[in-house]
Amino acid sequence: MKEFTPIKEGKVREIYDTGDNLIMVATDRISAFDVILKNKVVKKGAVLTQMSKFWFEYTSDIVANHMVSTDVKDMPEFFNQPQFTGNSMLCKKLTMIPVECIVRGYITGSGWESYKKDGTVCGIKLPEGLKECDKLPEPIYTPSTKAEIGDHDENIDFERSVEVLERDFPGHGRDYAEKIRDYTIALYKKCADYALTRGIIIADTKFEFGLDENGNVVLADEMLTPDSSRFWPLEGYEAGHSQPSFDKQFVRDWLKANPDSDYNLPQDVIDKTIEKYKEAYKLLTGKDLEA
Ligand SMILES: Nc1ncnc2c1ncn2[C@@H]1O[C@H](COP(=O)(O)OP(=O)(O)O)[C@@H](O)[C@H]1O
Ligand SMILES: [Mg+2]
Repeated sequence: MKEFTPIKEGKVREIYDTGDNLIMVATDRISAFDVILKNKVVKKGAVLTQMSKFWFEYTSDIVANHMVSTDVKDMPEFFNQPQFTGNSMLCKKLTMIPVECIVRGYITGSGWESYKKDGTVCGIKLPEGLKECDKLPEPIYTPSTKAEIGDHDENIDFERSVEVLERDFPGHGRDYAEKIRDYTIALYKKCADYALTRGIIIADTKFEFGLDENGNVVLADEMLTPDSSRFWPLEGYEAGHSQPSFDKQFVRDWLKANPDSDYNLPQDVIDKTIEKYKEAYKLLTGKDLEA
């Protein structure tokens, strides 16, 4: 049997290269305040992978995506092991477009910081008098570029995204920049409207796109998981202050109350967190997690 080692190990995900395809494995690691906790959140990886699968299927009418299969039977034999079952996605390998496509339906995080300073986010002027976490009149596209290792991503305006893409794909910069912007807004609108009917506010999210061998723009990476998005409970939502996170609130609250814990959490906090991930999955998909 051929053995595989990850070509990349991120904070939470591991990526394997099988030739034409990639296998993206969501582990049960969890980060909070940019630190990886000592604890594993059992089934978190499966929840995230199955959630991406749900959204890829739900939006395939808008844009093609990189998902091939989440069934380990479709993957090399090495992946027929329990640690890969349910949390792995076989994906088409793409040439990635180096812009992080962020869309915001609500004003929070770095968007809120920027708005407080000068009333704009990524060069977009917003109405006066917005409160923290207010819903925006329309979702806004606020791209960023991946910075060099160590730096934070850099927020850019749309015209800058055209330049960045023109540099990498001469003659296609504006075309690709417009496509990824328009897909990003359309994907967010469809999914956020749906999530709202299920009791979850998707405040903002990030998409990544790539190009297939024919130059088509294809949706990649993970999609609308709590790791790539801000999920808030609709119940109790109120602008004017920060919102609880749907999935990580127990963890954050506990860490704040226990600053000397060395990121080792008691099992009951972890158990409650696992339940939140499963609850989000069930609310959104209408199904219990099978994996
Ligand atoms: N279909 C794909 N083909 C090639 N690369 C992809 C595809 N989907 C996602 N990627 C890339 O895989 C990587 C996933 O890494 P990740 O764990 O998110 O860490 P980071 O975002 O810090 O680089 C990212 O660089 C992403 O752009
Ligand atoms: Mg990433």
